[in-house]
Amino acid sequence: MDRAEKIVLGFSVGLMGAFFVALLLAAKVARIDVPPCLPSDVKPFTTGKVDTLPDGSRRLYVVARMWRFEPEVVEVPVGKPVDVFLSAADATHGFYLSWSNANLMAIPGAVNAYSFRLDKPGVYPIICHEYCGAAHQNMVAYIVAK
Ligand code: CUA
Repeated sequence: MDRAEKIVLGFSVGLMGAFFVALLLAAKVARIDVPPCLPSDVKPFTTGKVDTLPDGSRRLYVVARMWRFEPEVVEVPVGKPVDVFLSAADATHGFYLSWSNANLMAIPGAVNAYSFRLDKPGVYPIICHEYCGAAHQNMVAYIVAK
């Protein structure tokens, strides 16, 4: 192995070490975590619904299907946690809640989940960001924070 190879190899190993340390810092210090993909207590479903918990927070069970979300309009209280469970009835769809970090894939046979809180009142469109057929661009729902 010549000197240039040793330098590149050393740099590569050092870079991998730096990425590993960055991952550890993100997880342990900044507490950045990967959202769970398959919550064990929720099985795939084909009917959307909204549950209100005793503390006023909401659990949304959203079904994506060609070419709508179910339920289409949901009211949530400002400042309360909202847990979304997302399933797909037919094809792969997307779920992006405008002006938030809620960005999920709806995959047939699976349930994706995310929790968020809306601190400002308003109407937040949910759009499908995965091409899913002829009327993909019409696939929208709304969360109304009051
Ligand atoms: Cu559903 Cu695009």
